[in-house]
Amino acid sequence: MYDNPRLILDSSNPPEADNILWRSPSNIALIKYWGKYGNQLPRNPSLSFTLSAACTDMELSYIFRDDTHSAGVNLDFFFHEAENPAFQAKMAEFLNTLLPVFPFLKQLDLTIRTGNSFPHSAGIASSASAISALALCLCSLEDRLFGTLQAAEDFERKASWLARLGSGSACRSIFSHAALWGETGLIQGSSNEYAVAAGDLLHETFKDFHDDILIVSTDEKAVSSRAGHALMEDNPYAAPRYAQAKARLDALLNALESGDLPAFGKIVEDEALTLHALMMCSNPSYVLLQPGSLAIMEKVRRYRTDTGNPVYFTLDAGPNVHLLYPGSIVHEVRDFIEQQLKPHCEDGYVIQDWVGEGPEEM
Ligand code: PMV
Repeated sequence: MYDNPRLILDSSNPPEADNILWRSPSNIALIKYWGKYGNQLPRNPSLSFTLSAACTDMELSYIFRDDTHSAGVNLDFFFHEAENPAFQAKMAEFLNTLLPVFPFLKQLDLTIRTGNSFPHSAGIASSASAISALALCLCSLEDRLFGTLQAAEDFERKASWLARLGSGSACRSIFSHAALWGETGLIQGSSNEYAVAAGDLLHETFKDFHDDILIVSTDEKAVSSRAGHALMEDNPYAAPRYAQAKARLDALLNALESGDLPAFGKIVEDEALTLHALMMCSNPSYVLLQPGSLAIMEKVRRYRTDTGNPVYFTLDAGPNVHLLYPGSIVHEVRDFIEQQLKPHCEDGYVIQDWVGEGPEEM
């Protein structure tokens, strides 16, 4: 979609060495993307809140080198100030696949310095923030060198498209407050190729929403998301699941627009449990939830019944529980977490996060 052989630097007028720095957040899906085809295309539309505290900082430095004949990109890579050959190799491999899109990358010596605001081992998705940060750095680089992405919409669309190729759900991290990825008649301009902004749809209540991430376990997942998506291909419930996701998206959009908290909560909790139910009935079956995850979900539902406070849970592909609630009850909910939920978290670990403004160039 974005192949462009004209993006080649003129060696008689080389760019000055410089750098680009982006901070990009993670996101939490309310309607889950689970199941894909082709090159990271989703089987159903998904919708997420963009987070804020859980984020990646990435600095991309570049120096011109007049060598159009090199086989691939030339990349130095530092994660939290240290060399990391495994991440370096993954990044370089991804950048090499992007050479038809950014042929000028071969004409530069690149250095990436990156780090997350949360421990890599926290068991929370770091790929969405890291890959979206990379996509934003690359689009800024293109625009700086060629002036080709001046319109914010063009810039965001290309960044989201690139992020999707690196890690599907990362394409939703580009936008403030909320994003929708996947073709649906419900949202004009929606596409399987990239996400679109959905923040404008939100009722004010959801713009001041919290997502506290309760870290039940930091262990590496027994089954990766990549493997999980692949198992959907033979899952007997796949077709009804994709239809269900579409119907739930319709209902969720109504709740998000009208500020209907109970309707919102029912859909997001049902989505979380459906995601894990799909794992349990894959072949082979597997369970990522842990006793602590179940205890937390049970206590959240009881707390809601006892207090009437609109606190809901969701999950991504792991045992950690995300607590979603409006800013108006933050103090009460923090007390509840402290007293009742922290004992189920590994070393009492909770990441306090909230719906945020999206990525920023620093
Ligand atoms: O982007 P991936 O391939 O890591 O898949 C993410 C899948 C879920 O986090 C479970 C759901 C989602 O939509 O983010």
